[in-house]
Amino acid sequence: MTLSGKKIIIGITGGIAAYKTCDLIRKLIKLNADVRAVITPAAKKFVTETTLRTLTRNSVYCEQFDVPEWKPEHISLADSADLFLIVPASANTIGKMANGICDNLLTSLIAAFNKPVILAPAMNCNMWENSFVQENIVKLEKAGFYIIPPESGELACGYEGTGRLADIGKILEKALEILSKEKFLQGKKIIITAGGTKEPIDPVRYIGNRSSGKMGIALADAAYSFGADVTLVSTIKVDKPYKIINLSTAMEMLETVKNEFSQVDALIMAAAVADFRVNSTSDHKIKKGEKENITLELVKNPDILKEISKIKRDNQVLVGFCAESQDLIENAKKKIGSKNLDFIIANDISDKEIGFNSDYNAVTIIDKFMNEIKIDKTLKKELAKIILKEIFK
Ligand code: C5P
Repeated sequence: MTLSGKKIIIGITGGIAAYKTCDLIRKLIKLNADVRAVITPAAKKFVTETTLRTLTRNSVYCEQFDVPEWKPEHISLADSADLFLIVPASANTIGKMANGICDNLLTSLIAAFNKPVILAPAMNCNMWENSFVQENIVKLEKAGFYIIPPESGELACGYEGTGRLADIGKILEKALEILSKEKFLQGKKIIITAGGTKEPIDPVRYIGNRSSGKMGIALADAAYSFGADVTLVSTIKVDKPYKIINLSTAMEMLETVKNEFSQVDALIMAAAVADFRVNSTSDHKIKKGEKENITLELVKNPDILKEISKIKRDNQVLVGFCAESQDLIENAKKKIGSKNLDFIIANDISDKEIGFNSDYNAVTIIDKFMNEIKIDKTLKKELAKIILKEIFK
């Protein structure tokens, strides 16, 4: 791997973990990256400009108004860099960034930067758990910043807890992933559904299922990071930098997907859609009264994939999921035909370690020619990338 031709800005804030950033810089330089260090005034207390200048083989930037060229420094630096890493990111700088404050070169530079930013926070564990800090982190994550959370252990301040800078190897790995990422879904519009539908019984109760939505959300995240224009249609509420339509029932999902489908290149139905809904829902909460039992009449929901397959153009891709505890592959293959799918992702739900609510899954990807690709237990986040690469390769 070489980073030759890649320009990286390393922002360093005032925290003891700043000494570890020197190691990260060395590793990036070894990969031939052009590295510029931008430090806050407080960072000077922890790492010297001489050290950073020697390691980066470039000038070190700190003062906002010390501008030798006609173009303000933060604008020209921001224009030319491919990636911005802030290591360590202090609670103070995180707070400023989340609120658009630009009171030094680093925070001004971030405000002017429109390419990927990785933040590796490091601080005292109580600071990290502080609700304002957490709110700011959520805000930045929602805005598309990549956050590498701090790790737990013994902290420089003498405490035990979460706040230690993430492993430098992990930060480097994320930087390499972002810099080498193929934006192979650039220009593609994709709808992804996620979560279990909730079919109302009365204003209080519903019939639901155990889907956590993690797989669908991981697919949406991965598609977005590969450059797709993503619409996530979800029963689970999440904050993400792409378009999200929240809803509850199968009927709402059908209507939404139908409305959006003509403008997209692909639909991935990862949602666990209820096969049945209550025929007539009660306007008022059903009282138990003296009743010993009640009967709910259920009617079949339309099959969203089947409905969409009727309006599908040849150049559109339809992907279904299939969760089975028996005869998985056989059942999945039947669904390719009955739902007119291009791909089906088959989940074996008999294994308790994977699937529902787990961060892991193991699947078989089957295409319409009945080719099978088996993927062993993998983090859903990673699996999502593999699935997208297979579908769009
Ligand atoms: O037939 P089965 O429910 O097992 O198929 C699962 C696949 O079909 C999933 O992709 C799911 O999102 C989709 N589905 C659907 N409409 C339904 C039920 C499931 O599109 N009513």
